[in-house]
Amino acid sequence: MIIISGASRGIGKYLLEKYIAEGQSVIGIYNKTKPSKHSDRYVQIDVTDEQQVSGFVSQHKELLKDIRFIHCAGVNLNGFTHKLSLDDWRFVMQGNLDSAFLMSKHLLPLMREQNYGRLVFVASVVPQLGVPGTSAYSGSKAGLWGLMKVISKENALKGITANCLNLGYYNIGMISEVPEDMMKVVLNTIPMKKLGDPINIYNAMQFLFESDYITGTEININGGLV
Ligand SMILES: NC(=O)c1ccc[n+]([C@@H]2O[C@H](COP(=O)([O-])OP(=O)(O)OC[C@H]3O[C@@H](n4cnc5c(N)ncnc54)[C@H](OP(=O)(O)O)[C@@H]3O)[C@@H](O)[C@H]2O)c1
Repeated sequence: MIIISGASRGIGKYLLEKYIAEGQSVIGIYNKTKPSKHSDRYVQIDVTDEQQVSGFVSQHKELLKDIRFIHCAGVNLNGFTHKLSLDDWRFVMQGNLDSAFLMSKHLLPLMREQNYGRLVFVASVVPQLGVPGTSAYSGSKAGLWGLMKVISKENALKGITANCLNLGYYNIGMISEVPEDMMKVVLNTIPMKKLGDPINIYNAMQFLFESDYITGTEININGGLV
């Protein structure tokens, strides 16, 4: 079973629709955006809420075999560090990092019992670049690297791999929040001078799903940005 958090919009929705088209068993998680299509494939949970996450896993236990988990849920708020409120910092940390911890914590016991699992966290090029105004987002995405690395070691003898995809800038999802003038600056920094197509994310996901010896690492998919 493929489980995708953040499947109601953007990249997660794109992946969910690809897997449905292929006939894969897939569950998409949404929170605030009610899906207009494929509603039978979705479950509503707030992935920052431990009770909801553990309830989801226990309710779907029978279905959850050969688990491949894609953590795509994410939030962003920009602000220079010296102006960022603690509430905004926590909102981003919870949305991006607490959520990955909670989903992993509650899925790992099933994966360990089954001696199989794939965890892929969707991280970002932003902490590699140190983009001003992104301290919360960068901190949370860099946190995913550490969490992933530890999970990979803790579960290396259990047929479980954990990896991150560090995405550059894509033509889908939260990029639509970037103002047009800023977009020109962003495009100019990308050596390939274009936004990424999400097929590249899908291809990398397939590669990680099919590999049993790639764990504790990151793949950069960013048009040559770093
Ligand atoms: N797009 C890019 O260029 C880009 C670049 C680098 C990294 N990324 C990363 O890629 C991932 C997907 O990005 P995107 O652009 O597709 O984002 P998006 O369009 O803004 O979608 C974000 C998704 O996360 C879900 N989500 C947020 N908080 C949640 C919560 N508490 N519980 C459950 N679901 C929650 C949203 O669900 P609801 O709306 O239903 O609440 C939505 O489906 C993110 O982790 C992002 O940081 C994206």
